[in-house]
Amino acid sequence: MFELARAAPAKQCTHMMIEVTTEIGGEACPFGKRIMELADRLAQWSESPDGLSCTYLSPAHRSVAAEIAALMRGAGLLTEIDAVANVVGRYPARGQAAPALILASHYDTVRNAGKYDGRLGVLTAVVVAEHLNRLGRKLPFHLDVIAFSEEEGVRFSSSFLGSRAVAGRFDSELLERRDAGGVTLAAAMREAGLDPGEIPALGRCREELLGYLEVHIEQGPVLLDEGLPVGIVGAIAGSVRAMITVTGTAGHAGTVPMGRRQDAAAAAAELVLYVEKRCAQAPTLVGTVGQLAVPDGAINIIPGRCELTLDVRAGDDVTRDAAVSDIMAEIGRIAARRGVSFDCKEVQRAGAVRCSPRLQSMLADAVARAGVKPRHLPSGAGHDAMMFDGLTDTAMLFVRCGNGGVSHSPREIITAEDADIAARIVLDAVLRLAEAS
Ligand code: GLV
Ligand code: MN
Ligand code: MN
Repeated sequence: MFELARAAPAKQCTHMMIEVTTEIGGEACPFGKRIMELADRLAQWSESPDGLSCTYLSPAHRSVAAEIAALMRGAGLLTEIDAVANVVGRYPARGQAAPALILASHYDTVRNAGKYDGRLGVLTAVVVAEHLNRLGRKLPFHLDVIAFSEEEGVRFSSSFLGSRAVAGRFDSELLERRDAGGVTLAAAMREAGLDPGEIPALGRCREELLGYLEVHIEQGPVLLDEGLPVGIVGAIAGSVRAMITVTGTAGHAGTVPMGRRQDAAAAAAELVLYVEKRCAQAPTLVGTVGQLAVPDGAINIIPGRCELTLDVRAGDDVTRDAAVSDIMAEIGRIAARRGVSFDCKEVQRAGAVRCSPRLQSMLADAVARAGVKPRHLPSGAGHDAMMFDGLTDTAMLFVRCGNGGVSHSPREIITAEDADIAARIVLDAVLRLAEAS
């Protein structure tokens, strides 16, 4: 059903040049096959019968956490589910007093998601740790494999809940956020048996960390178009997100003359088009209205209220903030012209992040040793890695997406061969880091 459009699919792994491969045995793509099989296994749990949806603390989410915990234990990791439902597995260092290298990504999903966004990074980390454990190969640092519980921000309109906690950036005000059903984050956590009071203790400090490395699908077409299985992330775009309510005047669709209306949806429509036009004006700038609703709307009622979301991102914060400020000015003009009011609540602001030059170059060396041309590329999507900026060195390895690079969609796809290359590169980088430590 799915295919790698525009890229010639690798028939088998031909990149086994690195020293670690001799320890894996003769099977083709063992890491990749296992990652694909495990991704299918995790995708069995969904909130909806007709697609993959796994949002924070839903029954599906809790089942996936339990499955990942079982996988980590099977891989020989000291495993726990922490106070924000992160699944944390430690492959302990030779000595107790050692720093930790974090290999991580997230296991929650958007609605109607693909199987690899987030989970690819978790599973790559698990198979690498599993391999080290099988070999009995000890490292001079702890390898902390973390499956973050929440990155997508779907249920509580706040992203990175899991990585925020581990990076010591969890603001307790977040606990008052409510989901669409009015349940607070704190209540949802308690109902799931988690204690929000324990969150502050999850924060890691600089001294105990060696670095942070995340594998993720690219979620775009660059690697596919260039025929490369993996790429090294140079920087991650920053974002501003807002929830906007437009209030106009509801009225009879048949009787109110066109010139006397305060139509909230028409005002929102003007804003949507302005966001599209303004955000087309700089290379890395993007702007999206992803949700647009007319609460209590009906075919014969002039919309009195419209609710929409705004997501603006750019490779640098100055470009992004200039666009946000222009959008706010346009909101003022639309409001004045149409006699409606706008209420804008900023719900998230994340600064653009540069990945560590040291870890990028280490990854580039490992990529080259795997027989792949090192390609550095920016990330337009947000990632858990952003939360560790300033706390420790961070790096990301992107894996090629098929189907034109589509993600946040059931059409998202990767190949076992690409997953295998990524796992080997991570293993190689971990072993080199061990040699250098
Ligand atoms: C996460 O998937 C994002 O919205 O960038
Ligand atoms: Mn995502
Ligand atoms: Mn993701």
